[in-house]
Amino acid sequence: MDTAGKVIKCWAAIAWEANKPLSIEEIEVAPPKDHEVRIKIEASAICRSDDHALKGQLANLKFPVILGHEGAGIVESVGKAVTSIKPGDKVIPLYMPQCGECHCCKSKKSNLCAKNDIGPFVGLMDDNTSRFSCNGKMIYNFCGTSTFSEYTVANEISVAKIDAAAAPPERVCLIGCGFSTGYGCAVQTAKVEAGSTCVIFGLGAIGLSVIIGCHVAGAARIIGVDINKDKFAKAKAVGATECINPRDFTKPIHELICEMTDGGAGYTFECIGNIDTMISALQSSHPGYGTCVLIGIAPAGAQLAFDPMLILTGRTLKGSFFGGLKSKDCVPQLVSDYMENKFKLDELVTHTLPFAKINEGFELLHAGESIRTVLTF
Ligand code: APR
Ligand code: ZN
Ligand code: ZN
Repeated sequence: MDTAGKVIKCWAAIAWEANKPLSIEEIEVAPPKDHEVRIKIEASAICRSDDHALKGQLANLKFPVILGHEGAGIVESVGKAVTSIKPGDKVIPLYMPQCGECHCCKSKKSNLCAKNDIGPFVGLMDDNTSRFSCNGKMIYNFCGTSTFSEYTVANEISVAKIDAAAAPPERVCLIGCGFSTGYGCAVQTAKVEAGSTCVIFGLGAIGLSVIIGCHVAGAARIIGVDINKDKFAKAKAVGATECINPRDFTKPIHELICEMTDGGAGYTFECIGNIDTMISALQSSHPGYGTCVLIGIAPAGAQLAFDPMLILTGRTLKGSFFGGLKSKDCVPQLVSDYMENKFKLDELVTHTLPFAKINEGFELLHAGESIRTVLTF
């Protein structure tokens, strides 16, 4: 393309500081350096973690920053030494990279690539510089993805090429975070078995995606738990067999679940980020073999405290990022599976807005009205 090797001027949503609306401004995006890929973003959804970032709840995150990590787009140009991606490829940026060389990438048991920037939030490329600037001021990236921009630059290890030519970017962008996180927790982290009973605490995008994974895995009973009964219809539409509201009962929710499931569920999932419901989820899993998976992100500094007898009696407590899925390997397959209607995904998108209305999208999230708002470019 004739923009290859040149600086591109385009619009991006800049978070200049925490707790302020995003500001849509013209930025300069430098060409990709060695092992880097410049992507024209076509769609990006707003995830709860973008909101955590914007509220200043992620320790170490530096401002100004371009947020966004749930996107899909087309490769505009590539830097030197890029082998797996070429201009014109349809891609999904990956906040969890897959370098293929670190201990976790080499292990079959993990997807936690050492090159991820979740936690340190360095916000720079490998050479410790940024490809983004606005009026000469350097702007940090977010988890190496920064999809709230018309153009972004990502390392090749943080980009999955998706084959399906017809894959709609305004749907498959969800495979970049929310969908894969929940779905993967069911099929990969927990490895839900057919015929089992699963309990999902929290029926937002993550909880619904867990339900979709449990359903695909053949779970016999899928029990959704939420304090907002308005979430039940959608949960049932994607596969929940029953839904309960803890506020309708006086007894602790784990006692009710253990009664409903003849002693506890085979698999429980916490998709809220609340310490109390994490312990309820563990207590709701069956002694001897139950597995409890933590997905929700607790407030910074929160600590879990529970009776170790819960573990000694044979329950397993687990957690993962990105559903435990090796990102670069699994994302293309998930896109193909979606195109073959192997699972539901469209139900997660409640709103679609033009990119310029990104702050409205955050307001919908705050009001609890949206599951996912997708921004189109
Ligand atoms: N008991 C049951 N349900 C609850 C409770 C509670 N105590 N508190 C909140 N909920 C429900 C809310 O009503 C909501 O439907 O949990 C759901 C959470 O959904 P969202 O806020 O939409 O969150 P989601 O985007 O699904 O993410 C869940 O995973 O990735 C992390 O940062 C994310 O911590 C968050 C979690
Ligand atoms: Zn996310
Ligand atoms: Zn790695």
